[in-house]
Amino acid sequence: MIQFKDLSYSYPDGHAAIKKVNLEIKDGESIALVGANGAGKSSLFKLIVGISDIGEGSIEVDGIPVEKKTLKDIRRNVGMVFQNPDDQLFMTKVYDDVAFGPRNELLSEGEVETRVNQALEVLGITHLKDRMPHRLSGGEKRIIAIASVLSMEPNIILFDEPTSFLDPKARRNVMETLGKLEMTKIIATHDLDMALDICDRVIVLHHGSVFADGSVKEILLNEELLLNCHLELPLCMQRCKTCNA
Ligand SMILES: Nc1ncnc2c1ncn2[C@@H]1O[C@H](COP(=O)(O)OP(=O)(O)OP(=O)(O)O)[C@@H](O)[C@H]1O
Ligand SMILES: [Mg+2]
Repeated sequence: MIQFKDLSYSYPDGHAAIKKVNLEIKDGESIALVGANGAGKSSLFKLIVGISDIGEGSIEVDGIPVEKKTLKDIRRNVGMVFQNPDDQLFMTKVYDDVAFGPRNELLSEGEVETRVNQALEVLGITHLKDRMPHRLSGGEKRIIAIASVLSMEPNIILFDEPTSFLDPKARRNVMETLGKLEMTKIIATHDLDMALDICDRVIVLHHGSVFADGSVKEILLNEELLLNCHLELPLCMQRCKTCNA
């Protein structure tokens, strides 16, 4: 479970990115975190994994407050898949990128191998094991970045824009991959059709505050609410409206 209490954060230049956020994320939930550009989605993620230091208020993960001295535990529990896989993959072989986290945990090489193989198998990418990450396609890199987080066996995964810049087939593949993962997922996305497909709850951020929080249907079928925070109905719903007109 993640609990945000009166969480606020301003960047060093004084820009207030997160304002008085109160939220509770329960185990096993699949949450879409949506909002216009600059709404604060990535900033919120950076606070959860301690890339940015909390300004005011608190975040607790399974009762452990996020702070400098707990970051190792927090990051063992919460994995983050960055928007740009090139920020996550830096080894010369896929295997080593996926093994990086478990090796860092000082697991034996046998345990590391088991973790890597499990992650690659779950995602159906065992055939990429010996490839060079920087020579893979954008979609393949995205899945490898997910594998590099899965091998840490986190209970919670944060995905920052997992379907951006992907062609339809790669997007579908990432969506199916996310749909299969059973841990708690928070997915920051502009892809509301994906949210409709694989999430059960939607949190809308607007100018750093929680604007709405509810079931996928409550939020994503409410055109007025979406327009008020610079979003639109998912494309499939827009098409339905045209068909019914
Ligand atoms: N390093 C920084 N210094 C100052 N302000 C920043 C910094 N990074 C982000 N911001 C500001 O914080 C606000 C929230 O940005 P954030 O990146 O969290 O938005 P986002 O919801 O992830 O947007 P997007 O959908 O474009 O990814 C924006 O107004 C942005 O300009
Ligand atoms: Mg962002």
